[in-house]
Amino acid sequence: MDFHKTLLNWYLLNSRSLPWRETSNPYNIWLSEIMLQQTRIAQGLPYYEKFIAHFPTVFDLANAKEEHVLKLWQGLGYYSRARNLHFTAKYVAEELNGIFPDNYKDLKKLKGVGDYTAAAIASICYDEPVAVVDGNVYRVLARYFGVETPINSTEGVKQFKALAQEMLYKKDPKHYNQALMEFGALHCKPKNPLCESCPFQKNCVAFQQGKTASLPVKLKK
Ligand code: ADE
Repeated sequence: MDFHKTLLNWYLLNSRSLPWRETSNPYNIWLSEIMLQQTRIAQGLPYYEKFIAHFPTVFDLANAKEEHVLKLWQGLGYYSRARNLHFTAKYVAEELNGIFPDNYKDLKKLKGVGDYTAAAIASICYDEPVAVVDGNVYRVLARYFGVETPINSTEGVKQFKALAQEMLYKKDPKHYNQALMEFGALHCKPKNPLCESCPFQKNCVAFQQGKTASLPVKLKK
């Protein structure tokens, strides 16, 4: 069966119900994706709920005092994220009439929005066929294809990005992207992946060659 079919079928049966999966509002998606960088969903979720309760729209966040934003962020870490978040909320509210850019290229111009976040927002909100590449995606693709290029090398970053884009199911990037991340988070886990019940077992190079524990390769720097 095609990779995307197996993946989307798995996702249908196993995806967690999360508040930002109920909306395509770019403000909500942007907020959730910024919060989930370097952060587990279980840890980020209560912060997302808290922020949406205090600041239901980008204007509410833009009009907040910086101290208030940082106070609510307390415990999530990487405080530059919170400062960029506030800066960008003000920019979108004041310069863009509260309307987020509607494509990958323009989203990337926002402060604090890199390749990953721009791809997440563009695909989830606007169905733009751009692949997200986060730690989960690196791991699933490295194992499935048996790619041994270090994921934190220049070559690796390029190779995995190209592979992710090639594999992307362009007819439904919104669900495909989230399914791949979810599969990495819940099934193809860094430690103790659930290979025995994996729908990709037959075609997974790492599983077939006993390399699951050693993939993905990451250089010590
Ligand atoms: N991790 C971060 N954002 C995610 C999303 N939208 N779906 C699944 N996992 C994620």
